[in-house]
Amino acid sequence: MPVLLAIESSCDETAAAICKDGQVLSNIVATQKVHEQYGGVVPELASRAHMQHIVPVVDQAIQQAGVSLEELDAIAFTQAPGLIGALLVGAQFARSIALALNKPLISVHHMQAHVVANLIDDPKPCFPFLCLTVSGGHTQLVLAESPTNMKVIGETIDDAAGEAFDKSAKLLGLPYPGGPLIDVYAKKGNPKAFRFPEPQIPDLNFSFSGLKTAILYFIQEHQQENPSFIQDRLPDICASIQDRIVSILLNKLKKAALETGIREICLAGGVSANSGLRNGLEQMGKKYGWKTYYPALPYCTDNAAMIALAAYYKFLEKDFADLSVTPTARAGW
Ligand code: KG4
Ligand code: ZN
Repeated sequence: MPVLLAIESSCDETAAAICKDGQVLSNIVATQKVHEQYGGVVPELASRAHMQHIVPVVDQAIQQAGVSLEELDAIAFTQAPGLIGALLVGAQFARSIALALNKPLISVHHMQAHVVANLIDDPKPCFPFLCLTVSGGHTQLVLAESPTNMKVIGETIDDAAGEAFDKSAKLLGLPYPGGPLIDVYAKKGNPKAFRFPEPQIPDLNFSFSGLKTAILYFIQEHQQENPSFIQDRLPDICASIQDRIVSILLNKLKKAALETGIREICLAGGVSANSGLRNGLEQMGKKYGWKTYYPALPYCTDNAAMIALAAYYKFLEKDFADLSVTPTARAGW
């Protein structure tokens, strides 16, 4: 019955969680508000905010779980990928606790943990499954053979899906992060009002940078004719942008499912909160006979519960890290 403390600090969320034998006992997230005014995450400010938040966040996770430090069987942390200065704060903190308590250390890959988030609550997918991980920094198609054995079979060659949402929102004058706002307006609009191009990218990779340019020209052209075009048609524009981003994602997911023959299909990452993506996946699932899954909302966006669960499976395999382990900004699998 291992009790694990996990720390996540790869981007702009300082998070800590406790899990006991694969069950989440606490999951605390401090979202850094400091970046809002800059329209994106400022790495230096993220590191400083992690340093301010990490002690109270870890403390709260331990208190809420009702465990003592002595009961911990291992300390887990996000080792990669992410902002290096942000990762360093979590890594250094985890190493210090492990050293002070003389407990093993477990290093976790953030993107694998996003996939593992699907194993937190029931119903859980059966292996092997496919996972479309879509966040502000990543867009990946992952084939998971087990909680510790997975491979990337497709990914974006430029922007991430979340970036496509956020950059489109910025062009429309919406505040950062604009993805959730596009989702809100899209619900009131017609997804077929405007047609944006679908990039022709071979294999299972994605591209979103062309879409961003197409949206920029589209807005400029319409604003020349009607300066209040955005105001007048915001729901239709948002619905049409969302429709295209979702179709780019789901068409590749469908290709992956048909090529591999896998019918257990998951979503993960912050963009999996998008209602158009969830509805689209459910419809496609019905059509192709898939079982579909997505994590509960607190486990979609960056959190430490998913790090704790990924660490739990590594603990079972006695896959511990050396105390000298250092974080890396970019990391393969
Ligand atoms: O996984 P996440 O919390 O952070 C990382 O990037 O790691 O994902 C954040 C991204 C942002 O780009 C945000 O705009 C997007 O997820 N997002 C959404 C929705 N909720 C969050 N995009 C579209 N629709 C949503 N409902
Ligand atoms: Zn993430």
